[in-house]
Amino acid sequence: MRPRYHYAPAVNWLSDPNGLVWQDGAWHMFYQYNPFGEEWGHMSWGHAVSSDLAHWRELPVALAEENQTMIFSGSAVIDHADSAGFGHGAMIAIYTGARTDRLHQFQCIAASTDQGRTFTKYSANPVLDRKMEDFRDPNVFWHEPTQRWIMTVVLSDENRALIYGSGDLKSWEELSEIPTDGAPGHLWECPFLVELPIEGSAETRWLFKVDVLSGAPGSGALYRAGSFDGIRFKAESAWQVADYGDEFYAAIGWTEPRDRLDRPTWIGWMGNHAVQKHLPLQGWRGAMSLPRRLSLRRREDGFVLVQSIEPSCRALFGGAEKIELDHGCFPLPGCAMLTADAGEWSFTLSDDAGRFLACSRKASRIEVVRKDALTPQLDRKCEMELTGDGPVEIWLDHGSIEIIAGAGADCLTLQHRLAGEAWALRGSGTLSARYLAASA
Ligand code: FRU
Repeated sequence: MRPRYHYAPAVNWLSDPNGLVWQDGAWHMFYQYNPFGEEWGHMSWGHAVSSDLAHWRELPVALAEENQTMIFSGSAVIDHADSAGFGHGAMIAIYTGARTDRLHQFQCIAASTDQGRTFTKYSANPVLDRKMEDFRDPNVFWHEPTQRWIMTVVLSDENRALIYGSGDLKSWEELSEIPTDGAPGHLWECPFLVELPIEGSAETRWLFKVDVLSGAPGSGALYRAGSFDGIRFKAESAWQVADYGDEFYAAIGWTEPRDRLDRPTWIGWMGNHAVQKHLPLQGWRGAMSLPRRLSLRRREDGFVLVQSIEPSCRALFGGAEKIELDHGCFPLPGCAMLTADAGEWSFTLSDDAGRFLACSRKASRIEVVRKDALTPQLDRKCEMELTGDGPVEIWLDHGSIEIIAGAGADCLTLQHRLAGEAWALRGSGTLSARYLAASA
C-alpha cells in the first residue's frame, strides 16, 4: 500500500511538513517524525531532499527529541546576511520545544552549516516563551519592505494567532494579532502567512491559513485573503475552506527563491489526528500530499485560493487514454491520474478485501465515499460544491486520492486503503486516464 508518487518515510510515523526551504539546488522538506514507531510520539524532525519536488531522498533525522523536549512543528530560513550570527547562509530552523509532560511549549532555534544534515541547538533557547502549555508552530519568513523576520505562531487552545517581528531570529517583539472573527471549530495549529500573486494581474494579496483540529469544515485548513503591512494582517475575505476532504492538514509552503519558484508552493500532511491511529500497522504511517502551487483568484465576493499540482509531478504521467465507464469493469492500476471534462459521472473503485471508494459528480456537487470493511472507523463521506469550471482532476495513488477541480479553487484530499496492484473500476460517464510512466 505504499504510495508510488507521494512522499512517505521508509518506516515509522510522519505528520506535518516542517522547515520547507531551498538551498544550493535542493528542496528540503523536514517533517514531524517518530524515529521509534508508527504511533505519534518522540516527535523529531525527519528530513528529505529533492531536486525537482517530485522525487525525494530520505535522509537521517535532522533534529531529535532531547531532555524530555520534543521538536514540534516549525519552519526554516536561509540567513543570507548572517543576522543571527551562525554564519552567512546558515540554515536556521525555528521550531516549538514541547515538554513531554505536555505542560510547556516554547519557540527555539537551531542552526545548520551543512545543508540541514546536522543542526546545533542555540545555547540560549528558548527564544520566545510565554510560559504556556499551548503555544506553537512558528512560521517565519523574511519581510523585505520592513527588513525583518516575521513569525506567525498560535495560542492553540485560545484559537488565536500572533505576529512577531525580529531582526536576528533571537529576540522577538509582539506586533499584532490575526483577526479571528467567525472562525469555526477549536484548536488552532500550523499558521501560514504568505504573499500570493492574483491571477491575471500584477497585484498580490496575502493569505493567512490555519488548521483547526476539530469542528471546522473539510480537513480543517481554513484561510482568508487580505493585506499585510509588516505589522498587521487585514482580512478582505471571509474564512474559506482550503480542502473539503478529511486529510489535508498542517500545510506550509516553500516561498523562496523566487527565480526558481514563480509562486509559493505548499504541501500538506495527508493525515488526520483522529483517524491515523485506526490505520492498521504496516511499518510506516502517513504521507505528504503532492506539492501545489498557490495563487489567488478574484471573485465578486472576494478572493479564492487556487491550488495547482506542481508541474514536475504532472510530468510523471504518460499520455491520456479514454475510458467509457458504461462499457464494463476496468482493472485500474493503483496510480492513475483521471480527468473528467464535463457532465455527470460516477465510479466505484474496489479491491478484493471489501474496501471501496465511490466518487461522483452530480450537477455541481462532488461526492467521495470511503468504505473499509476491515477498518470501519475509516468509513467517511466527503462532499464539495464546485465553484468554478474546468476539468475535474483525480490524482489516485496507493493510499490517497486528491481531487483538484474548479481550475484549482475546489480541492478534496482523502486517504484510502484499497489493496493490490489494480482496482476494479465500474461506473458511468467518460474519463480520461494517464498512467505513471515506467521511467517515473
Ligand atoms: C499538528 C500538530 C502541531 C504540532 C505537531 C506535533 O498536526 O499538532 O500543532 O506542532 O502536530 O506533532
